[in-house]
Order: sequence, then C-alpha cells, then structure tokens
Amino acid sequence: MADGSITHAEFEQAGLRLAVDGAVATITLARPERRNALTFSTWRTLARIGDTLPDGVRVVVVRGEGPAFSAGIDLRLFTAEGVPGEDALAPRDEEFIHGLQAGYLWLRRPDIVSIAAVHGHAIGGGFQLALACDLRVVADDVKFAMKEPALGIVPDLTGTKPLVDIVGVPRALELCLTARTVFADEAARLGLAELVVPVADLGKAVDDLVAAILAVRPTTAVATKRLLRAAPGNTLEEQSAAERREQVALLRELAGEQSS
Ligand code: ACO
Repeated sequence: MADGSITHAEFEQAGLRLAVDGAVATITLARPERRNALTFSTWRTLARIGDTLPDGVRVVVVRGEGPAFSAGIDLRLFTAEGVPGEDALAPRDEEFIHGLQAGYLWLRRPDIVSIAAVHGHAIGGGFQLALACDLRVVADDVKFAMKEPALGIVPDLTGTKPLVDIVGVPRALELCLTARTVFADEAARLGLAELVVPVADLGKAVDDLVAAILAVRPTTAVATKRLLRAAPGNTLEEQSAAERREQVALLRELAGEQSS
C-alpha cells in the first residue's frame, strides 16, 4: 500500500514498510532474506517517512523482520556489480552523506519518541539506526557491532554522538576499532538497552512501553524530551532556567484546561 507521497515501489526498493495506527507509527525493516541490509534508498525513504509523518503521531517504533534487526549497509554496494536500482558507492561528497543521515536524524525530533525494537544482529548502519532512536528495547539474542572501521570507513550515519553520549569516548573507541560484538547483558550494562527481554516478549514489551508513553499528556511528553535532550549541552544554571520555562508554560496550559 502506498503511503502519502511514497509509492509501493519505493517502499519495496527501500526494503521498508510503514504502518500508522493513530499516534503510533511502526517502521519495519523488511528485507529479511538479506538480514535487512540497508541501501541508499532505505536511508532516503526513511528521511521521507520523517518528512511526511502524519500529524498526531507521537511514538515511532523501528523494528526488523526475520532473524535480525539489520546487518548494516548492503555489502553489494562495495562491489562493482552494486545493487540494482541504487547509486554507486564512491566517490561521494558530504552533501550525499548528509542526505543519508537525514534518514536517521528526524528520529530525535521533540514531537515524537522513537523506540528501536532490536533483536538478533544490529551491525554498522543497523547499530547506528538503533542508536538514532531515543530508546532501545532489545531481545536477549541481540548482537550489536560497529563494523565500519573494519571496512575502512567511519560510522557516519549519526551514530558516533549517541554512542559516545551513552558509553563514553574510551568504550566507544574500543567498540568501533575492535568491531566486536556486544551481547544483551553488556548492552544493558553499558546503557545501550533500556530494557532486555526474551525474544518472544519483544513485541509485548514495546507495546507496554508505547502505552506508558501515550499515557503522558502530549505537550508534557514533548516538553520533557526537549528538556532532557538539552541537558548534556547546558550548564546547571541553563538547565534550571530551561526547567522553569517549560514548567511555567505547562502550568499555564494546565490552568487553562481546568478553567475551560
Ligand atoms: N549486505 C548484503 N547482503 C547481506 C548482508 C549485508 N550486509 N548481510 C547478510 N546478507 C545476505 C547474505 O549474503 C545471505 O545471502 P544469500 O542467502 O544470498 O547467501 C543472506 O543475507 C543471509 O545471510 P547469512 O550470512 O547467511 O545469515 P546469518 O544469519 O548466518 O548471518 C550476519 C547474519 C551475521 C548478519 C551475516 O550475514 C553478516 O555478517 N553480514 C554482514 C554484516 C556486515 O559486515 N555489515 C556491514 C556493516 S558496516 C555498515 O553498515 C556501514
């Protein structure tokens, strides 16, 4: 089914599906026969999903079909044959990469909470997609790995900042340069997962989290995310001022609701 300006053929080429149910949009990585490998079309279509997300969507869930969340970039892009329907990989300029990063950046918008539901492998661009989301609920079979440096490239799909914000520079450096796998226990310990559940319970755990988020007043949820996202870049004084600003606006709104 086509959605907005994105055609069925474009979703197919991108290996994506989108389902919008009221306040919840679910993006499914839907190329399980290739372990949800990602192409330029995937990233560009993700960006367009962000651009055309219906008003009223408050939570975006990103999940993978089949045995893995995502095996990262489609490795055929590195070959002379490439991937049918896709641009050649190299050489590329920064603007080209910027267009791909747009596929992930919108997941941090204050008007939505994004949740990655991750099971199996989440490698390279797949790991970065999980990092692009606000929250990560993971199955106990999860395997995160940042493989880019092993391929001679850097992680460039917006993943380095959230990775460092979560695990710190030394651990991020170690994970990237060794390309080693992080399993569920360590992911939880490092803060790469808010919640670890048995694979069979992943859908239910995400549904419960979505329900909890939707139970919060929309403007309160937006203000809370905006406030917390700003915190790492603020001094204590700046952050205290931001708390006051957000609270005064919310209290005014709540008072208006009570008197009407
Ligand atoms: N690109 C293209 N095709 C892929 C990719 C990929 N990244 N990953 C898997 N596939 C294909 C395989 O070639 C295979 O195709 P085939 O059935 O035609 O032979 C199919 O998906 C299934 O893959 P298997 O390896 O058989 O699946 P398995 O579950 O045993 O292993 C795993 C999964 C671990 C993810 C493995 O496929 C793998 O290591 N993939 C490559 C991961 C990688 O290095 N990604 C790049 C990261 S860097 C970045 O994203 C920028």
